[in-house]
Amino acid sequence: MRLTNDTSTLMPVPPGQVSPIPSSNSPSIPSSVAPSIPSSISVAAATEREQMASGAPAIDDYSSYLSAAARGMRSSAIRDMFSLSENADVISFAGGFPTPEAFLSLEAAQLVVDVLRQRPAAAYQYGPTEGIGELRAAVADLMRERGVDAHPAQILLTAGSQQALDLIARTLADPGDPVLVELPGYVGGINAAVAHRADLIGCPVDENGLVPAALDEKLVALEAAGRKARFLYLVPNFGNPAGTLLPLSRRYELVQIARRHDLLIVEDDAYGELYYDGQRPPLPLRALAPERVIYLGSFSKIFLPGLRVGWVCGPQPLVHQLGVAKQAADLCSSSFGQQVVLEWLRRGSIQPHVEQLRALYRRRRDRTEAALRRFFPAGAQYRVPTGGFFFWITLPQLARSGQTTAELLPAALRHGVAYVAGDGFCVDGGGQWSLRLSFSQVEEERIEEGVQRLGRLFTQAMPGESSPGYAQ
Ligand SMILES: Cc1ncc(COP(=O)(O)O)c(C=O)c1O
Repeated sequence: MRLTNDTSTLMPVPPGQVSPIPSSNSPSIPSSVAPSIPSSISVAAATEREQMASGAPAIDDYSSYLSAAARGMRSSAIRDMFSLSENADVISFAGGFPTPEAFLSLEAAQLVVDVLRQRPAAAYQYGPTEGIGELRAAVADLMRERGVDAHPAQILLTAGSQQALDLIARTLADPGDPVLVELPGYVGGINAAVAHRADLIGCPVDENGLVPAALDEKLVALEAAGRKARFLYLVPNFGNPAGTLLPLSRRYELVQIARRHDLLIVEDDAYGELYYDGQRPPLPLRALAPERVIYLGSFSKIFLPGLRVGWVCGPQPLVHQLGVAKQAADLCSSSFGQQVVLEWLRRGSIQPHVEQLRALYRRRRDRTEAALRRFFPAGAQYRVPTGGFFFWITLPQLARSGQTTAELLPAALRHGVAYVAGDGFCVDGGGQWSLRLSFSQVEEERIEEGVQRLGRLFTQAMPGESSPGYAQ
């Protein structure tokens, strides 16, 4: 990757691309260091000024200053799509964000004012690295409601569950170590492991989530090669991107396999509360194998993602070690954010709010499904998710046209609609004919129009195809 002063020359990341692991023979960091830059002015402006003042030659390419790990990192295609949501003309099914409408109904402003009036010192001050004690206790209660016997000492509060993914990757895996992920799997989890140069191995997901037999096969093959997987990372409830729900029987099977192979499991439950067909997801894996499951929870999808409050619930020695890594990362998560979450929980607001969210997202899910049936090409393959934010759609006919969903994305943007191409979710290089549609933040009345625009695009890209909507 070339990292130059001119942002227009940053190497474009093909939409959805997952960073390759950098080669170990990349150039080493030069011993010279860049001149120090006053922090009060922007880096770019300071660089310009210093060049003018000293007449020193400009540095055109900063790539050689980067660590080998940083040279291998790529910006997440999904984060890159963030800016699209600011363009009002584009109907964006790209970002898996909660809808801002959900924030308004929270009366969050009053909550914030109350916290700052009642506990200003606690909200503005640094806090303990592991998180404020009262919130850890409240989260332990929440875990018990989810069927997990938890003690506050087993809880580490993090800056969103994304930070937990980073801490886990750096704490449990050395560069080159095998880490098992779902195929397709959550890009943020994949990128966290890639950033620490793990060797990612994909385990297929079918309509019921991760396939236990396939996991077993991968583990046997690794062991035959004298290698040991450091952990398995999965999203069992309404996964991102596949939207699948792992049945209880598979949870038992996974736990048995993990015990047989002495494997740790990282269970990411960002969406478990958002179920739409009346039925709570089965027991967390953490309830079935507390000795080897690290559970990740988050307030982002059910409260306010901007507060950045998530948590780890795991075996105490591992949670302690993650806390040590967190000390180096950020000392502590935002005290302000934790206090606001605590106040919200104390007021008993979580249940009624989550019920509202279920109703709101269920309507969006239903509208998306109806529009897909009407406007997508007849051969499109997808399952209706029973919770979460995502439809994972595969268009096998695209293969015949030779165009991938990543290649069609610029055309989609020209048509005023965005999605995330499937290849970014697949560490085996697959997913070219798939896409992820997130219905969570598209206003209900725009869903049909957005899906229609996409359906038209895909139907045109596949000669000889038609969709029910266009056949009429
Ligand atoms: C499966 C999954 N895990 C973790 C995260 C990160 O969430 P946060 O860091 O806001 O808790 C996301 C966000 O989209 C997600 O989809």
